[in-house]
Amino acid sequence: MTDAPLLSIKGASKRFGAVTALDDVSLEVGAGEFFALLGPSGCGKTTLMRLVAGFETAEAGRVEIGGADMSGAPPHRRPVNLMFQSYALFPHLSVFENIAFGLRRQGKGKAEIAARVAELLQIVRLEGVETRRPDQLSGGQRQRVALARALAPGPRLLLLDEPLGALDRQLREETQFQIKEIQRRLKTSFVVVTHDQDEALVMADRIAVMRAGRIEQIGSPTDVYERPATRFVASFIGQMNFLEGRMESGEFTGPLGRLPAHDSGLAAGAKAVLAVRPERIAIAPVSEGGAGVGGAGVDGVVEDVAFRGETTHFRLRLSGGEALRVSRGAIGGPSFSVGDAARISIAPSAARFFASE
Ligand SMILES: Nc1ncnc2c1ncn2[C@@H]1O[C@H](COP(=O)(O)OP(=O)(O)O)[C@@H](O)[C@H]1O
Ligand SMILES: [Mg+2]
Repeated sequence: MTDAPLLSIKGASKRFGAVTALDDVSLEVGAGEFFALLGPSGCGKTTLMRLVAGFETAEAGRVEIGGADMSGAPPHRRPVNLMFQSYALFPHLSVFENIAFGLRRQGKGKAEIAARVAELLQIVRLEGVETRRPDQLSGGQRQRVALARALAPGPRLLLLDEPLGALDRQLREETQFQIKEIQRRLKTSFVVVTHDQDEALVMADRIAVMRAGRIEQIGSPTDVYERPATRFVASFIGQMNFLEGRMESGEFTGPLGRLPAHDSGLAAGAKAVLAVRPERIAIAPVSEGGAGVGGAGVDGVVEDVAFRGETTHFRLRLSGGEALRVSRGAIGGPSFSVGDAARISIAPSAARFFASE
């Protein structure tokens, strides 16, 4: 991000009685950026969005939008709109009137409202349904009306709190792409809040991973997936194997043998954890003498094989008794059955190391 950030949160802290909802949170969102706030339920995501929108005040820290300090600015004076978790539309109003709602409150004239609503219907691809009521729409269409309504006043920043929570899985995926496409065309900054890692990975330019009121990592989807900064991030996003071992002068020794670990920052002699994703592990028949991707490999026994369409997943037991999950593309490669011996190896670049807890 080279330009001045559109949104800047600096050291925000918020408590509710004994609960610390936000603990020294800082982050920046660029103009035109699609940002995701990802974390488990209760980690403070909604509180942070309410703080940005002006519905909540913090004990410490500040919020700046477009370089202006928002302290004391009420919600309607901020160039922000928040689309709530339950985006209830007005059931008795038409699609047109639902979208026009914020514009009427702004005191816009009739012609301007009609033109703006038509533009928004086109943006969210809902032309032709403006006279219908919400109960005459599908779930996905209702979601897009809510999006159009939130965009109507022309916010510089749109906050979407769990926007797809009410949709079933297939519709969620479809709507993720629609929202992303709409954001790309409008170039309005979006912050989407989600507890669903797939949603964050699919939609966002950058992701902030939150845990218990704190930010654990901010980075691109590939950053947080390939280079998780903490063990929590490693376990929260995607599937991960964790294997206990020990650091020894620049190497990690554990159930997968010795691996170079110069950059781990962990002291020699320390107990440590190797993190490796199932798809980064090579699996070969023992007779072939290793999978040839670095390291001599270790042996294990296949305990389960699960075909999942795009991928096949193996559960293995290593000779030291540790369980290991391995996955690979469903097509090609040798086949394995339960009870088969297999040789396991990983490339050094697939390994991450964390301090033992
Ligand atoms: N108005 C409130 N009063 C008391 N506790 C609250 C209030 N709002 C949020 N909390 C608490 O703050 C924490 C963070 O909540 P929230 O921001 O809603 O998390 P998330 O959106 O990530 O699920 C939770 O422990 C929640 O119970
Ligand atoms: Mg929430």
